[in-house]
Amino acid sequence: MIDWNALRTAAVEAMTMAYAPYSGYPVGAAGLAEDGKIYSGCNVENAGYGVALCAECGLISDLVRSGGGKLIAFLCVNGNGELTVPCGRCRQLLWEHGGPDMQIEMPVGVMPFSDVLPYGFGPEDLSRVDRKTDV
Ligand code: THU
Repeated sequence: MIDWNALRTAAVEAMTMAYAPYSGYPVGAAGLAEDGKIYSGCNVENAGYGVALCAECGLISDLVRSGGGKLIAFLCVNGNGELTVPCGRCRQLLWEHGGPDMQIEMPVGVMPFSDVLPYGFGPEDLSRVDRKTDV
């Protein structure tokens, strides 16, 4: 059973630490991993606007560094603490560590990640063909 309230609390807590002086749009993300722990992240912007890190980047970094394993559940919140949706790039980032069965709480409700990112590109797509060394 996924404790969505605990995930939401972690995401809101992370969001309060966001560094978003350029957009004024703080984000918090939280994920439950198979080790039973919650990992989280906030967005970190930069004077070079294009190099901003989304909240999901921080979460994934936290997860990988800690060896938490696969993500089972995920959500993200905006500056009002309301559920929001992960951007396209972060859907790809999450796919690698959550896969199609990760549960995600979207503003419209809980669903498998495959509903949010259908036909996602992953490591199996790379291993399906031999690596070309002459390109
Ligand atoms: N942002 C995230 O942190 N995650 C998302 O999935 C969507 C966008 C951040 C990036 C930027 O700092 C701000 O929200 C406005 O786009």
